[in-house]
Amino acid sequence: MCGIVGYLGKKEAYPILINGLRRLEYRGYDSAGVALMEGDDLVVRKKEGKVKELEGMSSEETFKSIIGIGHTRWATHGAPNDANAHPHLSNSGNLALIHNGIIENYGALKEDLKHRGYSFKSDTDTEVFVNFIEDIKTSENLSLEDALRVALSKVVGAYAIAIISKENPNKLVAARKGSPLVIGLGKDEFFVASDATPIIEHTNEVIYLKDEEIAVMENGEYSIKDAKDIPQTPYIQTLEMELEAIEKSGHDHFMHKEIFEQPISIADCMRGRLNAEKGELTLGGIRNYAKALENAERIIIIACGTSWHAGLVAEYVFEDLCRIPVEVEYASEFRYRNPVIKEGDIVIAISQSGETADTLAAIELAKSKGAIVLGVVNTVGSSISRVSHEGAYLHAGPEIGVASTKAFTAQLTVLYMIALKAAFNKGTIAENRFREHLRELSLIPAKVEKALKTNDKIEEISDLFKNASNFLYLGRGYNFPVALEGALKLKEISYIHAEGYPAAEMKHGPIALIDENMPVVVIATRDSSYDKVVSNIQEVKARKGVVIAIVTEGDSLIPGMADFTIEVPATHESLMPLVSVIPLQLLSYHIAVMRGANVDQPRNLAKSVTVE
Ligand code: F6R
Repeated sequence: MCGIVGYLGKKEAYPILINGLRRLEYRGYDSAGVALMEGDDLVVRKKEGKVKELEGMSSEETFKSIIGIGHTRWATHGAPNDANAHPHLSNSGNLALIHNGIIENYGALKEDLKHRGYSFKSDTDTEVFVNFIEDIKTSENLSLEDALRVALSKVVGAYAIAIISKENPNKLVAARKGSPLVIGLGKDEFFVASDATPIIEHTNEVIYLKDEEIAVMENGEYSIKDAKDIPQTPYIQTLEMELEAIEKSGHDHFMHKEIFEQPISIADCMRGRLNAEKGELTLGGIRNYAKALENAERIIIIACGTSWHAGLVAEYVFEDLCRIPVEVEYASEFRYRNPVIKEGDIVIAISQSGETADTLAAIELAKSKGAIVLGVVNTVGSSISRVSHEGAYLHAGPEIGVASTKAFTAQLTVLYMIALKAAFNKGTIAENRFREHLRELSLIPAKVEKALKTNDKIEEISDLFKNASNFLYLGRGYNFPVALEGALKLKEISYIHAEGYPAAEMKHGPIALIDENMPVVVIATRDSSYDKVVSNIQEVKARKGVVIAIVTEGDSLIPGMADFTIEVPATHESLMPLVSVIPLQLLSYHIAVMRGANVDQPRNLAKSVTVE
């Protein structure tokens, strides 16, 4: 949510910033802007819309600056327009600041600053923030970093910021609390960014700034200090990410690439962890708390959106395999009630980005009450991975399409492995069942590959339904969360209203919606509730609904009653979500493309929701 990028070195900053903003655009795309030191001038260019609008606006200009900051915005305070776009200049024009996050007490600060003669051109908390720093700097005659430190001790909220100043044209200052910030260390050059994607083409040496740290880069050197001005020795991490992982590599959209990458990303999740032949399963990230998990009296899963859907599948898996009661909570709800958490309760936090503000806050709450938090996270080095006691990375590679696809299947794979390992160790499943599950899991990448072969048929079906106004998705058991996920995928990228329901619940309300114009996607693979789902299909057909059924290969019954059937390979019912979700991802993708929607950057959304 909002991407920030900064550069200080010997090269021209502008192309580096623009390229960085393109890479970060998935985090927000309401407006974009840059600030550069051109001679003695601190020049700001910013524009409502995407990065390409900003480029278009500046196409006639030449920028020579070797220092600069850039921002791509997801609006929080104030509409997406030129005035609210970042960077924001302080009243004197000395400071330019970019910010990802929210300053909660900006209203009071703004009133105070107004009384002190400051004026504001935008509705943003960020413009208040930059003037607040300037006010402290001038009234107390402090250096930029000292003024920033004082300012940060007085603001409430979350931030990742980068600042440059006219007064110190070779200094780049950055700080974070709650929102992510990475510093790239090149040869005589520094980069700052919300995540590593703009950095890896320049250097793979990075520092993940910790909360309340301030980094100062100047004259080829850098220093990092904490909120009390105490120098810190940062851990320099070598990134393993390949550039190709963040490029479209011939696909029209990142979402398309990420859907088709799933056989590989699922295999990557299992690599080095699962050996079906030897009957071995190792999860190096969960060692110290493995026993606590096995002996837990209950597990609470917290997540948002698609990750929450993965949590719902995991609920069934943990209860079935480990016989431990599981509660799955929206992080945003969990954190604002007074949840009953006992010392030693296990909380599993699921997040692709590892930065979701509500999930982070829910983790902090759970930790404060003595829970043990296991993180299931994709982004290496992200906040959730760092605040969790232990956990397991997805290893699915960067997910850039805003609609989550490969992260979902990787989350299911990792959660399944965690449950399987705990169940085997605590003895709730016997060795032969354990081995059978390992074997079946190891076959999933090939089955997903096969499920992807439904693509052409789904494209044809998509053409028939691209103008529908509503969709209903039904599933039971393990496939119920898949119905929710299918509906979410469709609505977020095609803007068609869609609802997911447990198939049996249909008759308690949603059945009233069904008529000949209502496409109903039913996940009806062969499992323990198959017969019941068949009855649900008949109930839909009796009301003239149009049924698109996802069935197991070789099903001879459902094709006789559904309007369209899509076959996926058979697998154990607990693993079916990994396969049955594939056609639903493809359906939403094709419908969105046919409707001319921006698949990778759907309106109003952003990857990485770092505000509440
Ligand atoms: C849906 C989607 C979102 C995220 C949600 C949680 O396609 O991407 O619903 O799943 O914002 O994000 P993470 O997993 O990063 O915590």
